[in-house]
Amino acid sequence: MAKITLERVKGLRDRERHRYREERPRSLELFGRAKRSLAGGVPMSWMRIWPGGFPVFLKKAKGSRVWDVDGHEYVDLCLGDTGALCGHGNPHVAEAVCRQAREGGLTTLLPTEDALWVGEELTRRFGLPRWQILMTASDANRMALKIAREFTGKRITLAFNGCYHGTVDETLCVEIMGHLIPIPGMMGPLITDPSTTTRLIEFNDVDALEKALAPGDVACVITEPVLTNVGIIHPEPGFHEALRELARKHGALLLIDETHSMCAGPRGVTGEMGLEPDLFTVGKFIAGGYPAAALGLSEEIGGWLEERRPWHNFYGFGGTLSGNPTAIAAMRAALEHVLTEENFDRMKELGRRMEEGLAKLIEVYELDWYVSRIGCRVEFRFLPHPPKNGSEALFTEVPYNAVDVVSEGLTGPLDELIHLYCANRGVLLTPVHEMALVGPDTTAEDVDHYLGVIRELLTELTG
Ligand SMILES: Cc1ncc(COP(=O)(O)O)c(C=O)c1O
Repeated sequence: MAKITLERVKGLRDRERHRYREERPRSLELFGRAKRSLAGGVPMSWMRIWPGGFPVFLKKAKGSRVWDVDGHEYVDLCLGDTGALCGHGNPHVAEAVCRQAREGGLTTLLPTEDALWVGEELTRRFGLPRWQILMTASDANRMALKIAREFTGKRITLAFNGCYHGTVDETLCVEIMGHLIPIPGMMGPLITDPSTTTRLIEFNDVDALEKALAPGDVACVITEPVLTNVGIIHPEPGFHEALRELARKHGALLLIDETHSMCAGPRGVTGEMGLEPDLFTVGKFIAGGYPAAALGLSEEIGGWLEERRPWHNFYGFGGTLSGNPTAIAAMRAALEHVLTEENFDRMKELGRRMEEGLAKLIEVYELDWYVSRIGCRVEFRFLPHPPKNGSEALFTEVPYNAVDVVSEGLTGPLDELIHLYCANRGVLLTPVHEMALVGPDTTAEDVDHYLGVIRELLTELTG
């Protein structure tokens, strides 16, 4: 087994940090200036989590590539953390957005004919018969949970340890030694004790599921069909069947969040596995990166929503810009021309190439790591086997990636080294974890370039 030491990791990381900084004087200068007007030097604070102390400033993006203001070109395997899965500047999406801006009104509070096409297409793909369009996946999940509480008359959201569903307070908790607490460092104290809103259990644990549902007070079980935010965790055989049956038995609604897992294919995991959620959400790339999300409703819930007086669906639901005709036009373009069977077949094939290449490297360099994949989403982690639930994923740590308590990141030193090493050699990976996305414009050469960079790093790291 290869021996990786924390000392070697930190030594290489410091060298790569230095190179990153030296080679990006313009980004560094812009970051310094931006700090005078933007909190933390960025327009949204997630952009501070890029390793290296400052983000590269973007000049241009096209297809699978981005260019920074210092003239570096990158193979973009981050793709806006899934928001740009359709690729940058897709001509169909760009044309739909521009046409709407020029001729149709960016936002009007009026429906368009495209909305019918979108509703029918979403039903064809995912099975749910009624839809609402919102701005972000966080929005869609928040609305879904509100609907679930109102519809069932119950309060509790049941979620899985290690989940992430956006800025949805009910799901931003962790269980530590039997106590449910807000995620440490989370923005804003919760208004109520999380145990009055939320119950957390482990993914793939049917007994825990039965026990958590038994009191009959759960309004909604929310889950990704395959977990993606603590590495990729696949459901064990029979888990989804049990989840569907038990939620029904105990009068809880089932909400499937496909915001990331739709990387599996044009119909998501829901379509592929024939899942039958009562509520369904998808966002990020569903409108080709234009802000939009879709919330699917069962016949019964759709009918119930329709029968409420319009005024009662106004307070606490939706928003002025939600369902705007530009988002709808972009969603139609993305679904009709980009998120197609044909494109997904290619993307999945390249995802497989990447997965196999990484697995080979792990074997050759005798590492205690694993690689996993959903469709065109590929991730490797520093554990010998895929975990089966969030706790196993979250609380298993290798010494050479132990997060330094004085540094403030989510990122361990090996994560940081990998990201900087890749950035310095023209590959952009999603911040924080070792996740790479294959989009419709990604080429076999792009994948091989990434594998070559990882090989070079592993040679240095283990040599
Ligand atoms: C599974 C899942 N659902 C919802 C969201 C929220 O998406 P957004 O930040 O676009 O609202 C995320 C964000 O990463 C996610 O991973």
